[in-house]
Amino acid sequence: MKICCIGAGYVGGPTMAMIAKQCPDIPVHVVDLNEARIKAWNSDELPVYEPGLLEVVTEARGRNLTFSTRVEAAITESDMIFISVNTPTKTYGMGVGRAANLEFVEKCARQIACVSKGHKIIVEKSTLPVRTAEAVKRILSSSGNGATFDVLSNPEFLAEGTAVEDLLTPDRVLIGGDSASAIESLAAIYARWIPRERILTSNLWSSELSKLTANAFLAQRVSSINAISALCEATEADVDEVARAIGTDSRIGPKFLKASVGFGGSCFQKDILNLVYLCEHFGLQEVATYWEQVVIMNDYQKRRFGEKIVKTLFNTVSNKKIAIWGWAFKKDTNDTRESSAIYVCRDLIRERAKLHIYDPRVSQAQILLDLQNAMLDSNGQLSAVDKMLIEQNVTMAADSYQAAENAHAIALLTEWDEFKTLDFKRIYGTMPQPAFVFDGRNILDRQALGKLGFEVHAIGKC
Ligand SMILES: NC(=O)c1ccc[n+]([C@@H]2O[C@H](COP(=O)([O-])OP(=O)(O)OC[C@H]3O[C@@H](n4cnc5c(N)ncnc54)[C@H](O)[C@@H]3O)[C@@H](O)[C@H]2O)c1
Repeated sequence: MKICCIGAGYVGGPTMAMIAKQCPDIPVHVVDLNEARIKAWNSDELPVYEPGLLEVVTEARGRNLTFSTRVEAAITESDMIFISVNTPTKTYGMGVGRAANLEFVEKCARQIACVSKGHKIIVEKSTLPVRTAEAVKRILSSSGNGATFDVLSNPEFLAEGTAVEDLLTPDRVLIGGDSASAIESLAAIYARWIPRERILTSNLWSSELSKLTANAFLAQRVSSINAISALCEATEADVDEVARAIGTDSRIGPKFLKASVGFGGSCFQKDILNLVYLCEHFGLQEVATYWEQVVIMNDYQKRRFGEKIVKTLFNTVSNKKIAIWGWAFKKDTNDTRESSAIYVCRDLIRERAKLHIYDPRVSQAQILLDLQNAMLDSNGQLSAVDKMLIEQNVTMAADSYQAAENAHAIALLTEWDEFKTLDFKRIYGTMPQPAFVFDGRNILDRQALGKLGFEVHAIGKC
């Protein structure tokens, strides 16, 4: 058995590294068109930051784990091919802003069809709209060179920030397909380290739809507690107390009930919008509207947070220094895709605030790129005014202290652990009074900060 994976991103890299670690006898070849990414996978500065990942990669790399740009060779040599390429929301044409852009998946299928011989198992690891496997099968069956294929759906449920742990002890692995022997080939790989009862099998369509549904349910919980956080702020209830009270009901459970400035990441919004598009496609308008509200609520939460900062700072942030702590969409990752910080900062920049931004893992170049992308107009252009605002109003800070020095306010946007243990007395001494803290993740000790003299605003608390 030889494995390859097309796409060396946040999913392809870590999942294949784990398979290679657990199955030292199976050669695993991860390929990508992006040379810089492959170069980074072959170095000690991995392109993906995840706690524990470097150890997993270094154990297997050079033994049975290879990263390269040799896509065709990898396909030709492998018995099982994972497709783990990106499936972003379409930015043009039919289904713009909702449907998944499947051009990368289709390209992979065509390339596999073109160079394959004999029999291969194709595994959809990317998150795909239900019934995509049908299109993949059709493309593969038109190869014309006598190759045969089984297509499986094996969606990935890892969460960024805990990817290694999630891959090591997943709640479940899901394999959808219609060939029992192909399913067993893949199940046998996972069974090397995952108990059999956690390896679920289903038909292809249930498997594809389960991934979209899982993300929709998770995001819905965040939007539900965030909706309640707005009501808490209006009524002097405390959202953490409400979350604890409802979370002890075993039917509800305590996880994913943390109110925040909103969910981010490459998947939740994209997958819900894709679900909405699918429902509309099948004429299920009420179902589409129901799920779309989860995204609308998330946008509201991000907007509400920025507006609160402006209102609290006496209705103007023009030329006021605001420290931004955190840029990644959650702690323990360097991924910034759809991070709430991007949208809160975009709105504050347009209010002419002077932002001093610090994140422990995200590069300055990435922060500037994210802001520029968020400020593009509908024609994809950055207006002269927005360009100037970014140039003049955004400064990168070397650490949290530097960001907060002389700042009117601190906005905490990512829940990095290091923000909890800072010397707040020192920070308070460097800020003009009143010194405001806006805790977008509810991780700071409000009482202790209040005693030092800070005016603290958290989510869902008065
Ligand atoms: N990021 C997550 O937490 C997560 C979790 C579960 C599932 N997913 C899903 O997994 C898929 C991949 O997500 P990701 O975050 O790893 O994306 P990513 O953008 O980090 O990585 C995708 C990689 O595929 C490469 N690629 C695209 N077309 C290619 C081609 N034809 N040949 C070779 N390489 C090609 C790109 O260069 C890129 O490096 C998506 O469908 C996503 O929805 C992501």
